Amino acid sequence: MKICVVGTGYVGLVAGTCLAESGNDVTCVDKDESKVERLRRGEVPIYEPGLEELIWRNAGVGRLHFTTELATSVRAAEVVFVAVGTPPGERGEADLSGVFAVARGIGDALDGEKIVVIKSTVPVGTADRVREIIAERSPHPFEVVSNPEFLREGQAIGDFMNPDRIIIGARSDRARSRMAFLYQPHIDEGHPILYMDNRSAEMSKYAANAFLATKISFINEVANLCERLGADIDEVRRGIGSDERIGHRFLSPGVGYGGSCFPKDVKAMVDMGVTVQYPMRILHAVEAVNEDQKHLLAEKVLATHGPDLTGRVYALWGLAFKPQTDDMREAPSVVIVERLLAAGAQIAVYDPEAMGEARKELGDRVRYAPGAYEALEGADALLIATEWKEFHRPDLQRVRSLLRSPVVFDGRNVYDPSLLREGGFTYVSIGRG
Ligand SMILES: NC(=O)c1ccc[n+]([C@@H]2O[C@H](COP(=O)([O-])OP(=O)(O)OC[C@H]3O[C@@H](n4cnc5c(N)ncnc54)[C@H](O)[C@@H]3O)[C@@H](O)[C@H]2O)c1
Repeated sequence: MKICVVGTGYVGLVAGTCLAESGNDVTCVDKDESKVERLRRGEVPIYEPGLEELIWRNAGVGRLHFTTELATSVRAAEVVFVAVGTPPGERGEADLSGVFAVARGIGDALDGEKIVVIKSTVPVGTADRVREIIAERSPHPFEVVSNPEFLREGQAIGDFMNPDRIIIGARSDRARSRMAFLYQPHIDEGHPILYMDNRSAEMSKYAANAFLATKISFINEVANLCERLGADIDEVRRGIGSDERIGHRFLSPGVGYGGSCFPKDVKAMVDMGVTVQYPMRILHAVEAVNEDQKHLLAEKVLATHGPDLTGRVYALWGLAFKPQTDDMREAPSVVIVERLLAAGAQIAVYDPEAMGEARKELGDRVRYAPGAYEALEGADALLIATEWKEFHRPDLQRVRSLLRSPVVFDGRNVYDPSLLREGGFTYVSIGRG
């Protein structure tokens, strides 16, 4: 099929590339000229394992193209995906200006029948509004399909190719059957396609993310209680995760969730409730717990070393909001760094992939170490904010010899407490009372 994907961020670039990989002819459109130029040169602007090779392969055989030209790309395509960002607006609502701008562009360009697929995460009712915007500008027939994306950064290719489910919100059988044709390679491999109305599809995406965020805040709250009552959250996780109704995933305590999705989608769902005078009480609590959790590691440092950290130096391993990505959006590491800097500390940071993004966020207020061990030199403690694999099994003797004092504040419970204590460390982690 001939496909146009508007927006070449994490979602658009992965979706476009994977659709090209299944043999479709895909044109990816972005308004950011420099991004499009880089993609044309074969440079991939984000870190996502496996993506670069797939882009090269599909662009190389002429199935994947990059452009800033929306109108011509829309006209040439049968299906147009909208995958632009929907960042939080002032009161936490999803900012739909990008989606609506693209809808206007599509309406102006339409010259024949099209299927417009909204892949961006958008509040309930957005597909209806997009339908109105396009209809106001064009007499040509079109369908608006809601096809929310559930990929995870860091595993995006695998998630897109092997989805737990493909949700299609649509009004007509014709739109449903074209979407089924497009996703046939995935359906053939046993991945289910679920049909529903547009509003339920839009809601499904928010409900999924809000539920996962709730799981994280829940386990963080339980961890904090464990700490105060002398229980061990690792044991409790085993105890509850083995219950099939609960499951083991998303039950790891830590310094809170971040990233481009959970924080903004929880806020947007709260806002959806506000618009219909239905307060989302659980989600308010989920957010409040998460905000506090982001401060927890810095608070543990302040409780240990006192409120004035002047003259103290800290090494921070991990900046990205989670491993396998360079994404720093809403990363807990930023809150930790800001709190320590505000108390007068100096900080050396290291992350395997997010150093470039971190520079944009933190500027020259921290020292950027070329490697994990280099960050440790002369530090009063090591802090861990992201559980990258390479932090799991460091040479502990070397860590000890480089630190000024052998103290580890572990925000992701990466280490076995007894191992660290045997190694002569003072070890502070989350919820292991
Ligand atoms: N990142 C994720 O893991 C993820 C997962 C599932 C769903 N989503 C959702 O998918 C959507 C996109 O997320 P993302 O992380 O890829 O965003 P992103 O910010 O990484 O990328 C968005 C891209 O859209 C482009 N863009 C914005 N307005 C445009 C316009 N008018 N015309 C052309 N291009 C335009 C931007 O230049 C940018 O390249 C969001 O709604 C997000 O909530 C994201």
